Amino acid sequence: MADKLFIFDTTLRDGEQSPGASMTKDEKLRIARQLERMRVDVIEAGFAASSNGDFEAVKAIAEVIRESTVCSLARANDRDIARAAEALKGAARSRIHTFIATSELHMEKKLRMTRDQVLEQARLAVRFARNLTDDVEFSPEDGYRSDMDFLARVVEAVIAEGARTINIPDTVGYAIPELYGNFIKTLRERVPNADKAVWSVHCHNDLGMAVANSLAGVMIGGARQVECTINGLGERAGNCSLEEVVMALKTRRDYFGLDVGIDATQIVPASRMVSQTTGFVVQPNKAVVGANAFAHASGIHQDGVLKARDTYEIMRAEDVGWAANKIVLGKLSGRNAFKQRLQELGIALESEADVNAAFLRFKDLADRKNDIFDEDILALVMDEAVAHDSEHYHLLSLAQRSETGERPHASIVFSAGGVEHRAESDGNGPVDATLRAIESKVESGAEMLLYSVNAITGGSTESQGEVTVRLQHAGRIVNGVGADPDIVVASAKAYLSALNKLQSKNERVAAQG
Ligand code: KIV
Ligand code: ZN
Repeated sequence: MADKLFIFDTTLRDGEQSPGASMTKDEKLRIARQLERMRVDVIEAGFAASSNGDFEAVKAIAEVIRESTVCSLARANDRDIARAAEALKGAARSRIHTFIATSELHMEKKLRMTRDQVLEQARLAVRFARNLTDDVEFSPEDGYRSDMDFLARVVEAVIAEGARTINIPDTVGYAIPELYGNFIKTLRERVPNADKAVWSVHCHNDLGMAVANSLAGVMIGGARQVECTINGLGERAGNCSLEEVVMALKTRRDYFGLDVGIDATQIVPASRMVSQTTGFVVQPNKAVVGANAFAHASGIHQDGVLKARDTYEIMRAEDVGWAANKIVLGKLSGRNAFKQRLQELGIALESEADVNAAFLRFKDLADRKNDIFDEDILALVMDEAVAHDSEHYHLLSLAQRSETGERPHASIVFSAGGVEHRAESDGNGPVDATLRAIESKVESGAEMLLYSVNAITGGSTESQGEVTVRLQHAGRIVNGVGADPDIVVASAKAYLSALNKLQSKNERVAAQG
């Protein structure tokens, strides 16, 4: 029988640490359900002690997820670990993932602790966590840049205390595949009780090698858990991307010889959900989930694929879920069909009133757009969730005028804390005029770092435009996302959504601070 390789998804924890990618509890729940549908082995749902918001999100996920193990990160101290255990109480299967830095640089400059102090704290943390749950994972942060002898002592000690998974992070994305694989191999050889734990890899993508490093950790190092995120979401250049690592293992099973339990047909829906939720757009040429990943533009390739698919295709688009991009509903679809599609997409609206409100928006959209795709439904429900969460700013109406040779002008009506505001402005273009009009009332002082428009379902101008706006203010970065067939309206929604996020006070402790 082939070995099993465990997939540990950290989109909701390490992925969310990406500036602007923070998600609400409901958004996290929706993604967690999708990860479970994909049959991910472990879902790292958050870092419970970092904020009340994260605690509530981990708790909510622990209470609904039944198949996957739900995990919370915790620094190596009793308070963090107790908080993680508390949040995980309702889980069918739970894991506490505790960590402390072990590289000289981190211990000296960041922690200001000696080697012996770090070793003792790691040991006590795992002992404490094991009193609260059987399933404990330990990570030596910046493990790959740590001294091998010291790291081996720490790892041996935490395994003796009962850590079942040992994860070796390449925290700063410094590794090279062969070197990282050998590092893990040597470390396992040096740790006398190495066989008492599952070894895990956790690679960041600063040099673009997170997937290659993870796979080397598996093949050379003997790791049997890969930590990864959907779309490779994560701080800086991101984490190892789940879809790439999983499809490498499945497509080249002849080489890897390992079983992965993932239902790959759920990959593209998961990718879309994460990108729509966070506003982190997937590049068209991204492996597996990019819009062009299965598009054959050159005549020679098209001809070949028509004659025999495997001339130019190593994976089938439908096997990773591209078939999900189908017309699902239209103008004549009724409330029941809409409700059923919500269920199939794993979207649980809280009450019948919410379903009714979402259905009205759906009807409104179907009047303006012939074919409604899953992505449209997701965008619409996300809009509805925003309105339902009674966000501070909310778009009421927008009119704008642009004409060749004239300076564009916008008039907007929006509510702020329930009070209606009207504003007007000129601008370089209709979007600029609209955002200036909003700012003339709000005076947020935020700096815009990014503005981007994408067609939600690609392919045609009939698609809804999805706009992402990234704002920075007072040291915080947030992404706002808005969708509408009219891209100026989508821009106003995205801008107001970003302002709403700047308003929210859910500050968190940095996971690696
Ligand atoms: O990259 C890292 O070191 C981490 C740890 C907290 C596991 O994310
Ligand atoms: Zn990380």
